Amino acid sequence: MALSFYVHIPYCIKRCGYCDFNTYTPNELQDGATLEIVSSDYIDAVLSELEAAPTDQVPTIFFGGGTPSLLPADDLGRVIVAIKLRNGISPDCEITLEANPDSVTAQKLAQYVEVGFNRISFGMQSAKPHVLAVLDRTHNPENVEKAVTMARAAGFTSISVDLIYGTPGESLDDWRETVSTALALDIDHMSAYALIVETGTKLAAQIKRGDLVMPDDDLMADMYLLVDQLCMRAGLDWYELSNWSKLGHECRHNIAYWENKNWWGLGPGAHSHVDGKRFWNVKHPTAYKQKLFAGQSPVADSEVLTAGQIGLEAILLGIRMRGGLDIELLEPYQIELLATFRGDGFVELSDNRALLTPTGRLIADRIVREITI
Ligand SMILES: C[S@@+](CC[C@H](N)C(=O)[O-])C[C@H]1O[C@@H](n2cnc3c(N)ncnc32)[C@H](O)[C@@H]1O
Ligand code: SF4
Repeated sequence: MALSFYVHIPYCIKRCGYCDFNTYTPNELQDGATLEIVSSDYIDAVLSELEAAPTDQVPTIFFGGGTPSLLPADDLGRVIVAIKLRNGISPDCEITLEANPDSVTAQKLAQYVEVGFNRISFGMQSAKPHVLAVLDRTHNPENVEKAVTMARAAGFTSISVDLIYGTPGESLDDWRETVSTALALDIDHMSAYALIVETGTKLAAQIKRGDLVMPDDDLMADMYLLVDQLCMRAGLDWYELSNWSKLGHECRHNIAYWENKNWWGLGPGAHSHVDGKRFWNVKHPTAYKQKLFAGQSPVADSEVLTAGQIGLEAILLGIRMRGGLDIELLEPYQIELLATFRGDGFVELSDNRALLTPTGRLIADRIVREITI
């Protein structure tokens, strides 16, 4: 079987107000180290963890974070070389870098391509300065166009941007401008996620105090339908609820997750899935490094998926994909429940597969809940 790799880079210059990802700013690091010092040492720990992984050939590698583009290409390249030497990579291996538009230069991008990256995903979020301000983002929206142009010139063959919709104070027209601005760039792929208010974040505190108000569900639905229409018109088709791409530019790494393939997550807090077993690492980079440098496993805990869990996940993940859900996975009573959604125009049946219509995609979670209780 193939084995995909996720490589977690748990560092950011500054934490965005809405984000609860497992990432640390230089100030938050207990060892007080700067990113330059941290980088090489951190990669040593990652390479040591790699020794425990299976040796199957690798179809995709994804460097996520955090902000992987903060680290020099040479450091990230050490991981790519080690995986190549140890496992071998497929000839068309997709190697993605998550990047902040502010943290790249033409020279740095060329170096990333040189060490093997071929796909890049920029955290654009919004084209509107007032929305970026509420999101507490550091980047200047004009840097996104520069970054995409430089990435293309450097030789990246697949370019994606991440957007967020439903930020307090964002109107439908603001969102239209953001999506149109993104689509006017030379991109192959777009992810658009509804803003989630994560407990413990600065955003959650602002909402609790009443300083910010989240948009209502109708506006969120209109925003989703708008991004879908604009993407389709620009030749980017949806292939998963929150993802659109030109044909052939679907993110194969994420598809491997959604199809429950085998993947290994390197780094603190990273999760892995190998043959029905899930396990995850200790969360803090310092604890992670200490374990590995002491010759110990960084795994914090694990679980073996039951047949019931595997079946439920197949429904949950399958229905989110353009290819739809194989009806064979369902019990007769579940097919009957699905038929009621079909009558309401939320689901279509084709070749023994249940496919969500655009309005069905708005209520995907409800459909799954109702057919799985
Ligand atoms: C690890 S970040 C991408 C790389 C880089 N750190 C950045 O933000 O530019 C992955 C993506 O997760 C999304 N994200 C993070 N927190 C979110 C939240 N609370 N709600 C919705 N999307 C979120 C953002 O769109 C972000 O671009
Ligand atoms: S959204 Fe990205 S840049 Fe902002 S704190 Fe989270 S991981 Fe870092």
